[in-house]
Amino acid sequence: MTSRPKVFISRIVAREAEDLLRAECDCEVWPHHDLPCPGQVLAEKLAQVDGALIMGQDPVPADMLPAQPANRPRLRVIANMAVGFDNIDVAAATARGIMVTNTPGVLTETTADLAWALLLAAARRLGEGERIVRSGQWKSWAPNFMVGQDVYGATLGIVGLGRIGKAVAARARGFNMQILYYGRKQQPEAELRLGARYCQLEVLLREADFVVITVPLTEETRGLIGKRELSLMKPTAVLVNVARGPVVDEAALIEALQKKLIWAAGLDVYEKEPLPIDSPLIQLENVVLLPHIGSATVATRTKMAITAAKNLLAGLKGERPANLVNPEVL
Ligand code: NAP
Ligand code: GLV
Repeated sequence: MTSRPKVFISRIVAREAEDLLRAECDCEVWPHHDLPCPGQVLAEKLAQVDGALIMGQDPVPADMLPAQPANRPRLRVIANMAVGFDNIDVAAATARGIMVTNTPGVLTETTADLAWALLLAAARRLGEGERIVRSGQWKSWAPNFMVGQDVYGATLGIVGLGRIGKAVAARARGFNMQILYYGRKQQPEAELRLGARYCQLEVLLREADFVVITVPLTEETRGLIGKRELSLMKPTAVLVNVARGPVVDEAALIEALQKKLIWAAGLDVYEKEPLPIDSPLIQLENVVLLPHIGSATVATRTKMAITAAKNLLAGLKGERPANLVNPEVL
């Protein structure tokens, strides 16, 4: 880099990551932990900087990107602090010569842990149990009080056996589970290592006691689990979604939970986030609701911020960032 590039960071991130960027760039930080940077502000900043470190929850549609020639871009890199990058119009970024990067790998185990927390909580009714104790409604021990579904020895179905899906599957071995998976292609090495069996989505939905969604949100996966798919699941089955809300048709899921067509669900992600307070999900006992915290540990969020900062710096230096999602831009 000849002169110091200008960088915008759309939220307060780990100090280590900010320090990395401040050492080589002039940085402006949206000065809030909880308050997202409004779209209009982000669009203005994107038009004034060489690179931006943004959150996976910051939508960047085409009309938010600066009009610039692809062969002489002012804005050169958008580093997303998330592995998912469905918030960004990547094709539009590529057309404007902007590199887009993400943070794969560093959050895999943490997110798999959370998928398991949701699976166990939904199977054994942990949220409901806690609400009963805290509200003073716990009357007695009773044979059918708070009975749930067994996890040990059950069948786990993973939709999208990628990094997080494999980490979820690895944990299932300690629970002596049969593991099914569905994806666009068979993975013989993973089958051997994890003892997983490939099957079509319909078969997985019919046979699994626990269905965990770990596919990215794309045009292909939007609405992948709808009314028909939910109707294939066992009435005792649990659906866990740690991927993206729109992969599951939320209205169909609400209906399935209300009619008890499935046993329960554990959700970290929603069609609209934050989940609106008037969502029928909030009234349901047979769903565990978390506020999109799959990767939320101190260590992992620090690693994500550092990874995003390193990707941003590499791109600004004209190097290929380690986690470039649109290599066609080069
Ligand atoms: P990954 O390694 O890319 O895994 C995604 C898997 O989905 C791959 O096995 C991929 O297989 C499969 N897949 C892609 N398109 C598919 C389709 N149309 N049908 C069936 N399978 C398909 O990604 P990851 O690191 O595991 O992350 C997965 C997603 O989790 C992210 O994209 C993000 O949305 C979400 N996530 C959420 C949180 C959270 O806080 N809740 C945290 C981290 C990640 P092929 O490409 O081989 O087909
Ligand atoms: C979080 O949702 C991520 O994609 O990293």
